[in-house]
Amino acid sequence: MDLKGRNFLKLKDYSAEEILYLIDLAEKLKKEKRQRISHDILKGKNIALIFEKTSTRTRCSFEVAAHDLGMHVTYLDPSGSQIGKKESIADTARVLGRIYDGIEYRGFGQEIVEELAKYAGVPVWNGLTNEFHPTQMLADMLTIREQLGRLKGIRLCYMGDARYNMGNSLMVTCAKLGMHFTACTSAKYFPGEELTAYCREEAAKSGGSVTLTENAIEGTKGADVIYTDVWVSMGEPDAVWEERIYDLMPYQVNQKLMENAGDKAIFMHCLPAFHDVKTTIGKEIYAKYGISEMEVTDEVFESAQSKVFEEAENRMHTIKAVMYATLCE
Ligand code: CP
Ligand code: NVA
Repeated sequence: MDLKGRNFLKLKDYSAEEILYLIDLAEKLKKEKRQRISHDILKGKNIALIFEKTSTRTRCSFEVAAHDLGMHVTYLDPSGSQIGKKESIADTARVLGRIYDGIEYRGFGQEIVEELAKYAGVPVWNGLTNEFHPTQMLADMLTIREQLGRLKGIRLCYMGDARYNMGNSLMVTCAKLGMHFTACTSAKYFPGEELTAYCREEAAKSGGSVTLTENAIEGTKGADVIYTDVWVSMGEPDAVWEERIYDLMPYQVNQKLMENAGDKAIFMHCLPAFHDVKTTIGKEIYAKYGISEMEVTDEVFESAQSKVFEEAENRMHTIKAVMYATLCE
């Protein structure tokens, strides 16, 4: 498998074999790290991390993975560069492409990361856009395989805003890997028709399926993985909170829904999660709407079925695999 020089912008661009190759590579690198076997094969290379939105996991994963591979990192925060404000994406790409061996980008529209990749001349990795979050997918699939022993045939139910980066990305990934994807939410929040049609075609080839349902009991019945994400994503206006809470509360992941899922079902979330009032936003929402838990109850989040921290750790191992595969000579 040769992925050298490739961009990693969305999983629509990758075959099932390539996705599985990256997951296998991540598993190998994870094992090596646990055994303290060094893999600094990218010594002397430099990468730039552009974040137009904030991050904990993605930034830390890129930084630690790069250091483990022997690389140096420059972090450009949401206000720390000329990008987009005084300099176009195409010009920024051509500048950074001459200085760095690879570029990570987190920001708004998918077209921005696609444009960056078009002009950079070095691999560009998507660290999250409004539409897709592909590095999260590799971590999620590695976690599912570790926890449940396989990917093919797994029934994953996504609850909440399924039109955004997480719902879209999980639907694409499941469809390619022969998994059964269900978006369980109000019809307003179903993934877009074009992407759903594409995923249904992919699922027909892989032996998977795509289901959209508004019925929380039917959607979660017998599921192997119950997955959710925040109801309001980065970059969305505060004004949408009220409507989201009203629309998505019936799809909050709670103990009753977990019990309706399969016997060995696990709970997953890309994080950060609103499961208590220990955050500024959590406190504000509680003060305004009187709810102390949003997309997932604290009971489920803290339960043995919850694999969210295993999933978070796997961000680092899988991001390392992406850089390793696209940059190694
Ligand atoms: N899951 C995820 O991408 O987390 P961060 O926003 O902290 O990077
Ligand atoms: N949908 C969330 C994902 C965060 C990792 C967001 O875009 O804010």
